[in-house]
Amino acid sequence: MKIVLLGAPGSGKGTVAEKLEKDFNLKHLSAGELLREEIKKDTTIGRDIKEIIEKGNLVPNQFVVEIIKLEVKGKDNYILDGFPRSLKQAEAIDDLGIDLVVYLEVPEEVVVERLSGRRVCETGEHGYHIKYVPPRKEGICNQDGTKLIRRKDDNPEVVKERFRVYYNTTAPLVKYYKEKGILKTVDGTPNPEKVYEAVKKVVEENK
Ligand code: AP5
Ligand code: MG
Repeated sequence: MKIVLLGAPGSGKGTVAEKLEKDFNLKHLSAGELLREEIKKDTTIGRDIKEIIEKGNLVPNQFVVEIIKLEVKGKDNYILDGFPRSLKQAEAIDDLGIDLVVYLEVPEEVVVERLSGRRVCETGEHGYHIKYVPPRKEGICNQDGTKLIRRKDDNPEVVKERFRVYYNTTAPLVKYYKEKGILKTVDGTPNPEKVYEAVKKVVEENK
């Protein structure tokens, strides 16, 4: 099954994807995470990406589309988290045959509070929230024992820009996928367990 998770910054895409990956045996492919891995390599391109991400802008299509296409090659079961993020990107993967797009709908004020309290582990794979999704041991990842850190693009100025980009460029995808008849909207406002329950139901119904 091929799923796209669509939603504003901090809407809970990563949190939901971590659980779907386990329950449905789907590979979780987060565009942001793949780009942050590129930054860690400290290549010329990685340094350019770092600058773009830390300003809250989008990395050029050509590069992101290439990374995603390489990752999905030969796979039939995956979750695309944070990709596509523009009509151009969506058109570039029309040939993949996406089965389901889950749109996590959350008001901006809820999301801003989530991002200010978010922590991620050093591997970038596991996300927490100091109030809503606390780790068992403060500052340490439950799953791999690494230190929990803040993402640089979670500072309020950058969050503002990420939202601007989201409304202008990514939000039109809701209509795009609705017209294709594969979009399901889930209210992303309740607690993480409730949100996941609703997403799981949608995935099961569309398997
Ligand atoms: P990316 O890393 O994808 O960031 P994003 O889309 O802004 O989304 P986030 O990861 O911030 O939020 P999320 O929806 O995953 O929420 P999470 O589950 O963590 O992209 C980063 C950057 O990379 C972009 O700005 C861009 O520069 C670049 N990029 C990425 N993709 C690109 C593309 N396709 N093209 C070009 N450039 C691209 O949850 C947030 C917090 O809330 C956490 O603390 C979590 O614990 C908590 N939480 C989650 N659910 C709940 C809940 N139900 N109740 C309470 N708290 C909750
Ligand atoms: Mg994420």
